[in-house]
Amino acid sequence: MLRTDLSDEVITSRIIEFLEQHPEGYDKDTKEALIKSALWGRRTSSTVSELDEIYNYLHLDQKDNNIYQAFADMITSRFDINRPIYEIGGGQLPTVGKILSLKQNQGTVTIYDPKLLITKTDIPNLKLVRKEFTGNEIVESNALMIGYKPCDATIPIMKYIAKNDLDFMIALCDCAHGFPEIMDEDDINLWYQSCEWPVYSKYAEEERVKESGQEIRRIKRLSMEKYGNYCPVIYNSTETKY
Ligand SMILES: C[S@@+](CC[C@H](N)C(=O)[O-])C[C@H]1O[C@@H](n2cnc3c(N)ncnc32)[C@H](O)[C@@H]1O
Repeated sequence: MLRTDLSDEVITSRIIEFLEQHPEGYDKDTKEALIKSALWGRRTSSTVSELDEIYNYLHLDQKDNNIYQAFADMITSRFDINRPIYEIGGGQLPTVGKILSLKQNQGTVTIYDPKLLITKTDIPNLKLVRKEFTGNEIVESNALMIGYKPCDATIPIMKYIAKNDLDFMIALCDCAHGFPEIMDEDDINLWYQSCEWPVYSKYAEEERVKESGQEIRRIKRLSMEKYGNYCPVIYNSTETKY
């Protein structure tokens, strides 16, 4: 949600200025669309990723009503963050991993995104990798995998966590990227369900459970609706029951 102490004109002009300074990240159509939607954040804390990221980067949104901070809080309240963390699809201006890296007493945060605008950081335990996560990377066995609306990266992450039985938390996005074989993109409910038990179990069974007989951990769901994000957050708990 946008700050109330800044006028519409100030917010719009700061966004335009930012877009002018970063032509490498936004093509003409995207830039025009973002300028048109510049004040969308007056109504909700969750707009489109490019805009949410810019609001956050320019400190245009209210500190106590920020979706990235809310997602980071969901992670810290359910998982130990003092270990290797991988954020996949962190965005052009990643935030969640950065918040977690600043809270860590030990461990590292590695953020993968081919669209990262900046890859330099002063935070020693934060690593910014301008690449796609493919699932062929070697991740530590105690790693925590996270993603806020990772879109096309959702399937590589699901496969990876299922194969390696890693902790994870993903805030799903409202598209069916990566699942064309499963459903029509318009059927949002089916998409969410497919991301939960059936898909996870499919990968877990294919990759791991069949051979070992090991039980699969239960997937749980959280809501970010109060921030205007109607897509569920899913994570795995230590319970196993399916
Ligand atoms: C909807 S955006 C979300 C960005 C950010 N998390 C946010 O919410 O502001 C999805 C991001 O996932 C990235 N992405 C897609 N596939 C990926 C992959 N295989 N590995 C890493 N990042 C990926 C895209 O480049 C894009 O920045």
